[in-house]
Amino acid sequence: MDAYDLFRRLGAGAKFDVKRFSADAARFQVGKRKYDSDSSEVLQGLDFFGNKKSVSDECGALETHEELQNEEETEGVLLEKSKEPKKKKRKKMISEVTAQEDFDTTIQWTSSVEAKIQEEKKTKGEKKLTSGKLEHLRKEKINFFRNKHKIHVQGTDLPDPIATFQQLDQEYKISSRLLQNILDAGFQVPTPIQMQAIPVMLHGRELLASAPTGSGKTLAFSIPILMQLKQPANKGFRALVISPTRELASQIHRELIKISEGTGFRIHMIHKAAVAAKRFGPKSSKKFDILVTTPNRLIYLLKQDPPGIDLTSVEWLVVDESDKLFEDGKTGFRDQLASIFLACTSHKVKRAMFSATFAYDVEQWCKLNLDNVVTVSIGARNSAVETVEQELLFVGSETGKLLAMRELVKKGFSPPVLVFVQSIERAKELFHELIYEGINVDVIHAERTQQQRDNTVHSFRAGKIWVLICTALLARGIDFKGVNLVINYDFPTSSVEYIHRIGRTGRAGNRGKAVTFFTEDDKPLLRSVANVIQQAGCPVPEYIKGFQKLLSKQKKKMIKKPLERESISTTPKYFLEQAKQRKIAGQNSKKKETLEKKS
Ligand SMILES: Nc1ncnc2c1ncn2[C@@H]1O[C@H](COP(=O)(O)OP(=O)(O)OP(=O)(O)O)[C@@H](O)[C@H]1O
Ligand SMILES: [Mg+2]
Repeated sequence: MDAYDLFRRLGAGAKFDVKRFSADAARFQVGKRKYDSDSSEVLQGLDFFGNKKSVSDECGALETHEELQNEEETEGVLLEKSKEPKKKKRKKMISEVTAQEDFDTTIQWTSSVEAKIQEEKKTKGEKKLTSGKLEHLRKEKINFFRNKHKIHVQGTDLPDPIATFQQLDQEYKISSRLLQNILDAGFQVPTPIQMQAIPVMLHGRELLASAPTGSGKTLAFSIPILMQLKQPANKGFRALVISPTRELASQIHRELIKISEGTGFRIHMIHKAAVAAKRFGPKSSKKFDILVTTPNRLIYLLKQDPPGIDLTSVEWLVVDESDKLFEDGKTGFRDQLASIFLACTSHKVKRAMFSATFAYDVEQWCKLNLDNVVTVSIGARNSAVETVEQELLFVGSETGKLLAMRELVKKGFSPPVLVFVQSIERAKELFHELIYEGINVDVIHAERTQQQRDNTVHSFRAGKIWVLICTALLARGIDFKGVNLVINYDFPTSSVEYIHRIGRTGRAGNRGKAVTFFTEDDKPLLRSVANVIQQAGCPVPEYIKGFQKLLSKQKKKMIKKPLERESISTTPKYFLEQAKQRKIAGQNSKKKETLEKKS
């Protein structure tokens, strides 16, 4: 019995004037024992990850979560009077909630009998009120939790977020092996997108999700897919993940294999179309569960007669980099995506779209076509990840870019570095310029063979390549560990492309740096990229803020037809022209010789 309890017992039935005996009241903490009356302090106890000091330090992640769960249970008990053990919990909860209100300046302690009568009188009227209050408090806690993690949700009947992976066991019965794999991989706590997207998908809800680059979207869809498929079955593909590039597809494939180890799931990619048609076609054994692919390879199989793949058992269709795949025209996959959607005919099929950037038309499409869609976005929409230090660098001209690159090499840099250019041609040109600089440099673009691309990615991951020159091929989704610096050698064609490019660094909470070169020619697009930089709290030259914004029509035009730039070369134009003339002259004289010989 502590001093407080002793004081309470001795004082039973007595009136205590707090105002008059304020010194004693303070000493025995009368009226301020459990909570401080400020409700914001009650909310502070909701620090699920125990990051905060002070009040919340005493209730760790799980404890606080248990409180939340208890409340849910308690609420159920209010409706279900018959269950005795839970009744006790309810009583405790009621007393805790009401206790706060009882802390008036003057407290009246009546005899225990009187108190009992009064409590019984009150109970009937309070039941409804308290249940409403509890629900209100629960919602408040959920909202507080979402706000804290910048989770924005839209939709009806929204599933509550999870705070720990262990909750997947308590509430959704995740297989112990899968949970173990997640924890063994070093994923201790879910990221915000995982907190909300996983329960949404586990409730079988269709989803449009956006979260910053490097924030764990892959796991956010991989975990619920594996959980919902429960176990391997010989029904053909039951989940399909589409991504815009083969590099990204194989990364997702690897991640799925890693976390499903020991569960028996058969996860595939399409390597050679002809082999795939035999393996997955009508005469196949159907012994496979998940397919990760780019749209074109899948369309190729679907178009064969009879189709080289059957998607009628697909229950989950996940579109990663959804805004890219929804783009139409040469660079997009909108038509292919439409054919794939149509081929997934099961009434059970549910769709989920993921990306770091939000496109208006994807959102509209989802609202019109998905069933009771839930929209989840983390942080401000279409913003760059906050862990990247961003810099805009005026380099004057194309030659200025090369000089700036060489300067950077000379000064020394910490690899690995990714350098983005706008076209295959320019990637080749820059590679030829940098190959003699004494640094391990390589280049990757769509014209290289698949084998070359795989080798390059592998060597870059292994640290054998320090500087990798690339095109948009590597702009989205690719998760290279520890890229220190991204250089936008060519200014990106849109702020969306900028966000994805610089998102190759500063991933999973690590810090990174991005330097973006610009010349006079890049003026039209400067303002929108500068806005992104400024929003992330990085400096932007004052004069750029005054530049005019482009109309959306103009923006689209810039994406479809990027700026024509002078070729990348340190050799002066005059010499290049001369060399070209010499080459043409040489070819002509050869032709002349052969003609003369023939005649
Ligand atoms: N809960 C977690 N805890 C720690 N690390 C995590 C967690 N979830 C994912 N990661 C790691 O974060 C990194 C980025 O994840 P991922 O590639 O899924 O990001 P993303 O959100 O899809 O990014 P992008 O928009 O570029 O595609 C990966 O290396 C992944 O292993
Ligand atoms: Mg991704």
